Amino acid sequence: SIRRPLIAGNWKMNGRVADGAWAQRFRDSLTANGTDILVCPPATLLHLFQGLFAGSPVALGAQDCSPEPDGAYTGDVSAGMLKDLGCSHVIVGHSERRDGHGEGDDLVRRKAGAALREGLTPIICIGEQLKDREAGIAIETVLAQLAGSLPEASADDVVIAYEPVWAIGTGRSAGPDEAQEMHAAIRAAWPGDGAGRLRILYGGSVKPENVAALMACPDIDGALVGGASLDPHVFARLVNLS
Ligand code: G3H
Repeated sequence: SIRRPLIAGNWKMNGRVADGAWAQRFRDSLTANGTDILVCPPATLLHLFQGLFAGSPVALGAQDCSPEPDGAYTGDVSAGMLKDLGCSHVIVGHSERRDGHGEGDDLVRRKAGAALREGLTPIICIGEQLKDREAGIAIETVLAQLAGSLPEASADDVVIAYEPVWAIGTGRSAGPDEAQEMHAAIRAAWPGDGAGRLRILYGGSVKPENVAALMACPDIDGALVGGASLDPHVFARLVNLS
């Protein structure tokens, strides 16, 4: 493939300062295999991990950012602040932000735009609810989210993560055929040129046991991994298998 695979770990609201030892164990378990590796710890650990990952092949990402550059936005973290801490990527529009914090496509698009303006790569998450899949409208739902959440950008500067909400943290991954069908639809819907260079990750109960079958699909370029990224040995095994 012309696209380098990317495996990203999203720690969500997990991890304490004492988990710094994670980085050492993770690095020791990795074998270089041409896969891009990204770890997105909570914001509280970014500074610590910046030091721990320095000089390693592991890139650093954040889980969210403000749509605004700086200013009176209590509790928010700007893309520029994340850049300061050595982040190269930031997740935007995760379903836990969309559903738990009422974030809609418009806000997600503005967050992705703010990331791009700071030179960060936004990982823009989209995915249908179970009721949409059962109603047979999964693809149109996801493509509408894509259209609404995408800032003007080159295919080289963003990453899309397809995460069916019913597969997140449930142990029930989408099957490779189901995921591939959606990834192909997302690529075909990419506006403008460069669709062949767009990286599209799958997320939702990815683990060492299913990562190879997912990665074998032509339009699946990597994974956004939640639970299985918390254990350094499990996550390293998953990366090594991708
Ligand atoms: O961002 C990661 C996804 O929400 C997947 O989480 O691997 O725990 O299902 P999970």
